[in-house]
Amino acid sequence: MDTKKKGGFTNSIGFVLAAAGSAVGVGNIWRFPYLAARDGGGLFLLVYLVLVLTFGSALLTTDIALGRRTGKNAWHAFGSIKPKWSFLGKLTFLVPVIIMTYYSVIGGWILKYSTVYLTGRHHQAAQDDFFTGFITSPVSPIVFMLIFLALTALVVYMGVEKGIEKFSRYVMPSLLILIIGIAIYALTLKHTDASGVTRTGLEGLKVYLIPDFKGLTFGRFLNVLLDAMSQLFFSLSVSMGIMITYGSYVKKDVDLNRSISQVEFFDTGVAFLSGMMIIPAIYVFAGTEGMTSGPSLMFVSLPKVFNSMGTAGILVGIAFFVMILFAALTSCVSILETLVATCMELFHATRKKVSCVIGLLSAAASVVICLGYNLFYFECPMPTGGKGQLLDLADYVSNSLLMPVICLLTAVFIGWVIKPSWIAEEMRIGSNGFAKEKIYSAMVRYVVPAVMVILFLQSTGLLGRLIG
Ligand code: PHE
Repeated sequence: MDTKKKGGFTNSIGFVLAAAGSAVGVGNIWRFPYLAARDGGGLFLLVYLVLVLTFGSALLTTDIALGRRTGKNAWHAFGSIKPKWSFLGKLTFLVPVIIMTYYSVIGGWILKYSTVYLTGRHHQAAQDDFFTGFITSPVSPIVFMLIFLALTALVVYMGVEKGIEKFSRYVMPSLLILIIGIAIYALTLKHTDASGVTRTGLEGLKVYLIPDFKGLTFGRFLNVLLDAMSQLFFSLSVSMGIMITYGSYVKKDVDLNRSISQVEFFDTGVAFLSGMMIIPAIYVFAGTEGMTSGPSLMFVSLPKVFNSMGTAGILVGIAFFVMILFAALTSCVSILETLVATCMELFHATRKKVSCVIGLLSAAASVVICLGYNLFYFECPMPTGGKGQLLDLADYVSNSLLMPVICLLTAVFIGWVIKPSWIAEEMRIGSNGFAKEKIYSAMVRYVVPAVMVILFLQSTGLLGRLIG
């Protein structure tokens, strides 16, 4: 099936907004702020920014150019250049398959919180055991997941131009406006706690922006670096075939250099603004201790913060959860689209038929993940610390194990087998040149492979053992 038949983005803006829709998701609004808070605010920001401009740019360029030049999905893209490397396409396809099983479960949780806030039950959400009570209940998480998945499938069913592009065109700018609004509001907050200490939003902003180098050791710096690196992967939706798929829908007259910078800017901008809205708010109501709550920040700590804000908290809570719902939807759409587009190519079937079948299969898999909190509950020790259930396990396999391996193999493939000039040629089409060619080449040949090995060793817990 050729590129024209499978449809494509109408223009550069349509592509940038759809790609940004994939990139901007739960990772930006929830994961980035809690990592930044935990890893010393400004220090994390600085490291992350450097990584986006070097690594992020190289990884996005690789995926998007690969997609556009071959006009294929990851499954066929690698093999169409070098048949021996077709295994890499299949391995890459595994990542969205796994992520799809749990992303809609998280989407369902967000949908639940949105409805709780929209129906004025914010006090409930702020109770200690509300979140655990909800995810361990047998029916409710499944129902919300199914609704979220049905919405996602509907957008994919409508196709690239009428579904994904149109949806992202409305959703992404609205999301940006909401986030800027809440971020500004967060800076105006002021609260005096039970012990008489008053904290303000602006003080919270300082905590977020000013690097704290106190007691910084090499080991800790390495941890910050690895946190920032894994965040970058997840956040930009790279090394999982998604950007290869979206790249295959881009017309040849689009300047990829410019579009890639815009996607990076959008993604990093939303992450930065999310930190600006969450960190000062948590700081004002829960102090620096509240900032280290980690993954539970969004579902447990934030509802408490909204509750302490009084009436304004209801509105902010609604805006927040609706916004993150949009972000999660556009990301989930990109995952499902990758699965659907690949199966359309594989089975020569129509979009409508494949969307329905894959939608149903995903629903079945996500039900199993939901049941991981009750019927199939177990506690599995994770190499990265803590104990996990089915969802954490799926997340670990896709993000911590597969992604570094795929990224390493892709870098070797581009850097040493087909050579970076293959990508550079594509980057020059539709633009005045590829100014970053030298740095791109050095990144894919040397830096990316080296860092991926370190990241993989860290994810498997081997790095800790090697360093002692
Ligand atoms: N990039 C998205 C985020 O930041 C997450 C995502 C992962 C999207 C995998 C698509 C695929 O939340």
